[in-house]
Amino acid sequence: MRSHTASQIGQDTVGKMVTLAGWVDRRRHHGGVVFVDLRDHTGMVQVVLDPEAIGESAELRREFCVQVRGKTVRRPEGAENPDMAGGMVEVEAAELKILSRSEELPFLIEDRITAEELLRLEYRYLDLRRPGMARNLRARSEALRTVRRTLEDLDFWEVETPTLIRSTPEGARDLLVPSRHNPGSFYALPQSPQIYKQLLMVAGVSRYYQMCRCYRDEDFRADRQLEFTQIDIEGSFWGQEDVLATVEKVIMAVVAALRPDQAVGAPFRRLTYSEAMSRYGTDKPDLRFGMEIVELSDVFAETGFRAFAGVLAAGGVVRGINAGPIAVSRARADALIDKARQFGAGGLVWMVAEEGGRLRSPVAKFLSEAELEGVVRRLGGNPGDALLLVADGERTVSEVLGRLRSELGKPDDPGRLEFLWVVDFPMFEERDGEITFLHHPFTSPADTEMMRDRPLQAAARAYDLVLNGVELGSGSVRIHDSDVQRQIFEILGISDEEAEERFGWFIRALRFGTPPHAGFAVGFDRLVAVLRGVASIREIIPFPKTQTGAEPLSRTPASVSNRQLKELGIAVDPRRIKASPPA
Ligand code: AMO
Repeated sequence: MRSHTASQIGQDTVGKMVTLAGWVDRRRHHGGVVFVDLRDHTGMVQVVLDPEAIGESAELRREFCVQVRGKTVRRPEGAENPDMAGGMVEVEAAELKILSRSEELPFLIEDRITAEELLRLEYRYLDLRRPGMARNLRARSEALRTVRRTLEDLDFWEVETPTLIRSTPEGARDLLVPSRHNPGSFYALPQSPQIYKQLLMVAGVSRYYQMCRCYRDEDFRADRQLEFTQIDIEGSFWGQEDVLATVEKVIMAVVAALRPDQAVGAPFRRLTYSEAMSRYGTDKPDLRFGMEIVELSDVFAETGFRAFAGVLAAGGVVRGINAGPIAVSRARADALIDKARQFGAGGLVWMVAEEGGRLRSPVAKFLSEAELEGVVRRLGGNPGDALLLVADGERTVSEVLGRLRSELGKPDDPGRLEFLWVVDFPMFEERDGEITFLHHPFTSPADTEMMRDRPLQAAARAYDLVLNGVELGSGSVRIHDSDVQRQIFEILGISDEEAEERFGWFIRALRFGTPPHAGFAVGFDRLVAVLRGVASIREIIPFPKTQTGAEPLSRTPASVSNRQLKELGIAVDPRRIKASPPA
C-alpha cells in the first residue's frame, strides 16, 4: 500500500511518484490549497492537495488514516523548513484515499502533551502514535535485538522457564494464580526465574539467558512495575569476573545501539558496598557529580559544641557535604533542616563559605577557629558554597547526607552515562530486629565460616550494576553446596521443616554434582528508560500499569463470574470489594 515511508521522502525522491500511507497529523487550508502533515511510524511529510481536483481533501480531519499518491517536488522558495527532515520537499497529491476516519480525539497527538497520564493510558493506542513514544518503542525493540544478538554470539542459549511456578523468595509479594484442578492451591507468577536458571546449571546448560517477564506485587514507583522485563543470565563454571565482563559487553552493545553519542568504556568503575555507603550514603550513587560525603568526626574530637560532642561521645559520627553554591536563605535553611529530619536525622548544621576562608553559620559562635578551619579544609568551599553537616549514628548520617546529596546534586551534563559496579555486598541485614538476606538466599558468602560466626558482618559474593543513580541490575555467585544452603536458611530463621517444605526440591537438586555457577539480571525497562532519558519506565512500556496496579485501557483487574470462582473453589469476602472499579 505504500512505496515509501515518510522518512524516505527527501531530495532523493524529487521528481518521483510516491505512494504514502499514514495519519493526518495536521491539516491547514492556505491560499486555496490544503496542506496535510502526513505522519507514519518514521516521521512526517508535507502533502499538498488541490481541493478542486481532490474533493475528499475537504473532509480530512486529524488522525484520519489515508493513502496518498503524488509527486515529490521542491518546496517553493520561502516555504522550506530546514529544521524538519524532508522539510525542503513536499508531495503534490494526485490521488487521495481515505482508508478510515477518526472520531474526535481525547487529546492531540503531539510530543508536548498536557493530558493526564490516566487519559493517555486509557487511549494508549493514540498515545503511542506520538512521535516520541514511537521512538521509545523502536528503541526498546532495538535494545531487545541487540541483547539477543550479543548473547547469541557469545554462545548463550535462550531457555524459557515457566511462569506458573511455586513461590520463590525474592523479597516482594507474589502474584497468585488459583488452580482449577486443585482448589485451594495456587501457582505464583515468578518474581524472577532465579531457581529455574540455577536448575538449568545443574542440568548441564553452560550459558543461559532469557528476556523474561517478572511479576512483583510491590509498592509502585517511577522505576517499578507490577510486571517488568529482565535480561536474565546465568553461567556454569563461572565466577564474578565472568559475569561482570559479560554484562559489560551486553550493556556496551545496547549503549552503542541507542546512544551512539556516548563513549562508554569497559571495565566500568567499581566501588565496594562499604565505600559506596561511606562516600555517597547509598548503594546506588549517581556519579555524574561529586559532592562526596566527608568525615569530620576527628575535626570535632575536642569540640565544645554540645550537639556534636554528645553524638561523638555516644559513638556517632559527624560528616558533611559541600552542596555547592545553593543560596541558603532562611527559608531554604529551614527546608533543608526539615528534610534532614524527615530522612531520620536529629538536625542539620549549615554553613556558608565566605571570602577569606571564613564561614557564616548560626553555630559558628560555638565552634573554635581550628574547627572552622578544619571544616573548610576538608570540604573545600568557594565563597557561596553551602556546607551541610550531620551528626548522628553512622548509618543515619550516611543515609541523610546520601539523600541530601541526591536531591541537591546537579550533573553538569545530564546526558552523560556513568556506569558503576557495586561489589562485596553484605550477606544479611537486620530489619526490625530480624536477620534478612540482602540479595536473595541463594547467594554465596565470601567466607562460610565468617558467615556462621558473625552473619551480619559477612560479605556476599554479590554485585549490583548502577547507572546514573539507578539500580540497573544485580547478581551473585550462587551456592552450589546444599550444606551451605541449609546454613543460610538456618541463619534466616527458616526451620529445617519449612526449608524442606518450601525448597526441599531445590536443595535436593544441589546434591547431584552442581557446578559452581553465577549470574545476573538487568532490569531491561530501567536500562532503556535511562538511555532514552525518560523519567519513568512507564514511558517505555507499551501498556503499563498505574500506581494502583490498574490498566485503564482494558479496565484490569476486573471481577470474574461466580461460575469461574466456584470452579476455583474461591469465595470473595464481600466486605473487601471496592465500590469503585480500579483506575
Ligand atoms: P533483583 O531482584 O535485584 O535480582 O532484580 C534485578 C533487576 O530487575 C529490576 N527490577 C524491576 N524493574 C521494574 N519494576 C520492578 N518492580 C522491578 N524489580 C526489579 C531492577 C533490578 O536491579 N534473580 C535476581 C538476579 C540474579 O541474582 O541473577 C533478581 O531478580 O533493575
